[in-house]
Amino acid sequence: MRVVVVVVVVVAAAMACRGPVAPRPPTDSDIIAKSHAFLEAVDHRDLAAVTAQLGPNYVRFEGTYRDAAQEIASVQERLASSDPSTMIESRTWSEERVFARGSDAVFIGRATEQQGGNKIHGGYKDDGWYTLVWSRDGQAWKLVYRGWQTAGSVAKTQVWNHIYENKLGFEHAPNKLLVEYAATHAPGTAMDVAMGQGRNALYLASAGWTVTGVDFSEEGIRQAREEAAAHALKLEAVVSDVTSYDYGTAKWDLVAMIYAYPAFSKIADLQRATKPGGLFVYEYFGGAEDEPTPPLATQFMGWDILKDQLVDDVPDWRTDRAKIHRFVARKR
Ligand SMILES: C[S@@+](CC[C@H](N)C(=O)[O-])C[C@H]1O[C@@H](n2cnc3c(N)ncnc32)[C@H](O)[C@@H]1O
Repeated sequence: MRVVVVVVVVVAAAMACRGPVAPRPPTDSDIIAKSHAFLEAVDHRDLAAVTAQLGPNYVRFEGTYRDAAQEIASVQERLASSDPSTMIESRTWSEERVFARGSDAVFIGRATEQQGGNKIHGGYKDDGWYTLVWSRDGQAWKLVYRGWQTAGSVAKTQVWNHIYENKLGFEHAPNKLLVEYAATHAPGTAMDVAMGQGRNALYLASAGWTVTGVDFSEEGIRQAREEAAAHALKLEAVVSDVTSYDYGTAKWDLVAMIYAYPAFSKIADLQRATKPGGLFVYEYFGGAEDEPTPPLATQFMGWDILKDQLVDDVPDWRTDRAKIHRFVARKR
């Protein structure tokens, strides 16, 4: 009997010496659930839940900085306000990932959000990536960083608008291949796919072509229109996604696809849209394994191939030297 009591006492003493049991490390699902719950607490102006989750070093960065006190103050302000538009009515998650190690866990998830309190007009929609960084604080996990990055087509358009605002990183003169082959055809109707700031479309217009250019960059289109007006050139400049634009049938004497990678999936439509005798002029990077390019020679069977060259040269975009695919075909 005495032996048993001694063993029990020794085991109990050993357990007490080990101190409190370490908390179970959170699983990815725990971090995802915590991240969803935090944002829902913000949406619903749940001041207690928001305050409980924020770490003392919390920072939010979305173009401006906001610390924990400012985050709490903003929830308080919204609580006090009767404005129903300052909340998210629904949020749909996709592409969620957790990167966890030791006492840090980073959650990244894509959210499409629908604004509430603006039902008369339908409510704004947002598409973007949340980054929430959690850090162990004793037994609890606290939020130390919150960030948002716009995703989808808006983000892509912003990148191109920015490039055109800066006017850096690309050739401003018209593409040489286009200049060379446009001169072999009497001026007629021309489609410049993904025309950017219009360097090629404006050249064609100045050479007597009736040009339509399509691009989703509002800034690119704005600059093209401004240049056309300044030089009294006629140019139809359309803000549109090149993957949904209707190119028509047998409409164009010349189709220019100059560094117009977003329209690779539309080549069959562009072929249909070319008039018999019309030219298809293409230039883009070639030969990089991580950037597959369209198999043009196969796609253009039944056309006269006037050029199909892979050369090492100076490209109009992105880098000083690269393998470039130059391809020109005439529709029979
Ligand atoms: C490399 S630049 C080429 C511009 C022009 N062809 C040139 O060579 O100067 C690619 C262009 O594609 C446009 N773009 C990208 N994705 C697009 C899309 N889905 N719809 C319309 N334009 C798009 C960009 O705005 C950009 O102007």
